[in-house]
Amino acid sequence: MWAQLSVLSFQKPKNSIKFVHNNIISMSNLLIELKGSTQIITINRPDKLNALNRATIKELSEAITASENNDKVKSMIITGSGEKAFVAGADISEFNTFSKGEAHDLAKNGQDTLFDLAEKSSKPIIAAVNGFALGGGLELAMSCHMRVASNNARMGLPEVSLGVIPGYGGTQRLAQLAGKGKAFELIFTAGMMKAEEALQCGLVNHVVEQSELLDKCLEICEKMSKNSSVAIAAAIRAVNSGYQDGENGFVTEINEFAKCFATGDFKEGTSAFLEKRKANFPNN
Ligand code: COA
Repeated sequence: MWAQLSVLSFQKPKNSIKFVHNNIISMSNLLIELKGSTQIITINRPDKLNALNRATIKELSEAITASENNDKVKSMIITGSGEKAFVAGADISEFNTFSKGEAHDLAKNGQDTLFDLAEKSSKPIIAAVNGFALGGGLELAMSCHMRVASNNARMGLPEVSLGVIPGYGGTQRLAQLAGKGKAFELIFTAGMMKAEEALQCGLVNHVVEQSELLDKCLEICEKMSKNSSVAIAAAIRAVNSGYQDGENGFVTEINEFAKCFATGDFKEGTSAFLEKRKANFPNN
């Protein structure tokens, strides 16, 4: 408990940490619990359907950074509290009077400090989509490396119904995950996709009963935890590279592949295979 708390304290979140009880860190808008090697980050504003206000975005950014810096953490799960919503969007009450300049800063800061941070995290992040994932909520889920949805989940980018478009990477990541045609349809109609449809178009990896959602995510985390975290981080960089302007994903893959050969994990992984034993990765 204290080791985990000290990592968060190291990030100097100042007033963000309120309380630690039963191994659960409670911040103003988040609950954070380490289960095995998985950091479960729960957005905790159920009365506002976990809408992302600025304070929540800041705390999520701090929690992801702290988890990245904590050697005990190998993966993260982001979910929403309650049974109704993952995140029902950016907090509309915070930006409805914004000017063009303020709107630009809102989208840029959000993308830089949270959505890109999540996507580029060296540790895998799974979005456990437990209900409505709308606007910034779906954008957050799409920034994660994988998505598992409960069968009550509803996903959409309804921004055009408010006279605006997605600003946290939604126009790009939805087209990447579900295809351009699906992205246009979902954005233009401001509709909501059911979990099964999201599964069919590749937006989510799995659909399960709500009661099984966390267990399914933890099962995936458990499988990943047996593998080289150094190689997983390299795979994240290689896959992401193909979606970066001015980068060639194939070239990045060659470089990341070669770098693996100089790691302790590669020596251990290949030796263990040849010696017919389980690998015990040193994580370096
Ligand atoms: N921003 C701020 N507050 C939000 C919110 C958001 N994106 N989404 C929900 N809330 C708040 C509501 O204002 C309400 O607060 P109140 O009780 O103080 O009035 C509370 O959460 C519950 O939402 P409510 O609308 O009463 O629930 P519902 O079951 O009737 O409807 C939704 C659920 C998700 C369909 C509806 O809340 C909604 O359409 N939300 C906005 C979705 C959106 O446009 N997101 C994109 C934002 S860019």
